[in-house]
Amino acid sequence: MLDGKKMLFSGMQSTGTLQLGNYLGALKNWLTLSDEYECFYGVVDLHSITVRQDPATLRKRARDLLTLYIAAGLDPVKNCIYYQSHVSGHAELAWILNCFTYMGELNRMTQFKDKSAKHADNINAGLFTYPVLMAADILLFQSDVVPVGKDQMQHLEITRDIAQRFNNIYGDVFTIPEAYIGKQGAKIMSLQEPTKKMSKSDENPNASIFLMDDYDTIIRKFKRAVTDSDNQILYKDEKPGIKNLIDIYCAVTGKTPQETEAEFANCGYGDFKLAVGECVADSLKPVQDRFYDLSKNKDYINGIIKENGEKANYYANKTLRKVKKKVGFPEKIR
Ligand code: TYM
Repeated sequence: MLDGKKMLFSGMQSTGTLQLGNYLGALKNWLTLSDEYECFYGVVDLHSITVRQDPATLRKRARDLLTLYIAAGLDPVKNCIYYQSHVSGHAELAWILNCFTYMGELNRMTQFKDKSAKHADNINAGLFTYPVLMAADILLFQSDVVPVGKDQMQHLEITRDIAQRFNNIYGDVFTIPEAYIGKQGAKIMSLQEPTKKMSKSDENPNASIFLMDDYDTIIRKFKRAVTDSDNQILYKDEKPGIKNLIDIYCAVTGKTPQETEAEFANCGYGDFKLAVGECVADSLKPVQDRFYDLSKNKDYINGIIKENGEKANYYANKTLRKVKKKVGFPEKIR
């Protein structure tokens, strides 16, 4: 608790450009939570190097992502927006928690299995212990709630298990966090293979809508979206392509799948795809405009990086001091 408010942490990796799933499954929900919670949003650049990165590109992407958080509408006064690599407590707590996490638990993580299949030439220990760093992010801020898309549920579960295990040994050190999954958009699928989730790292550029895609590109990608041949706009598991387009439409407009089916009852797929594309492009345009404006304002962004980095360090150190004392590290002599 901070000033009577519950705590919240979430973050995104600064690899690649954000795609529509990141926006609808996470970022858009974050905007609605700042009044209710004390929010910490990290650009989780430590996580990014589990896969090889070009240093200059990684640095640029991290800054773009931080700017995009603000452009999407997160007020950097109400929300602590910062770089994970500026707060050494993340890595320190991750080490400690590594000693409370079992190999067997980490072996079960589906993201580790997927990523090691994809990067068979670089199955590093960081990729394996990635969920422990994620647990450290969350527990460092004593988070009550963690807004994420459905794909992060397994990582939330292991975070809860690690926290519980630690508390069982040392007493009430960590708050046990709950996942916050939005009602709509929690799992946006690929536009080309609608049984697979939309992902920044998809090799087919037509599979994902990127947040900075221009209007024509967005419309073109939706027009090419893979559907089926029965030409009926119905929200059904047997129609994954159309179901995904309905999900996207609902997440953007706030309508329900039933309202959407009724609205497009007399339309063909072509008109529906265009309508979905238009509503997505229209909703991203103001975010893109603000992003370009903010990017020019270097001093403003630098000020946020500095102030919020200090704030995050302050709260991270509070938890870290407590944890270090509990496990038996000697106190610093001042
Ligand atoms: P990342 O960077 O892959 O994704 C950031 C957020 O976007 C959500 N998301 C999606 N939601 C719906 N549909 C999709 N297709 C889709 N793709 C991604 C993710 O669920 C996530 O909420 N490990 C995390 C980053 C992280 C983190 C944390 C998150 C590190 N530490 C602590 C929360 C708390 C990740 O790689 O997310």
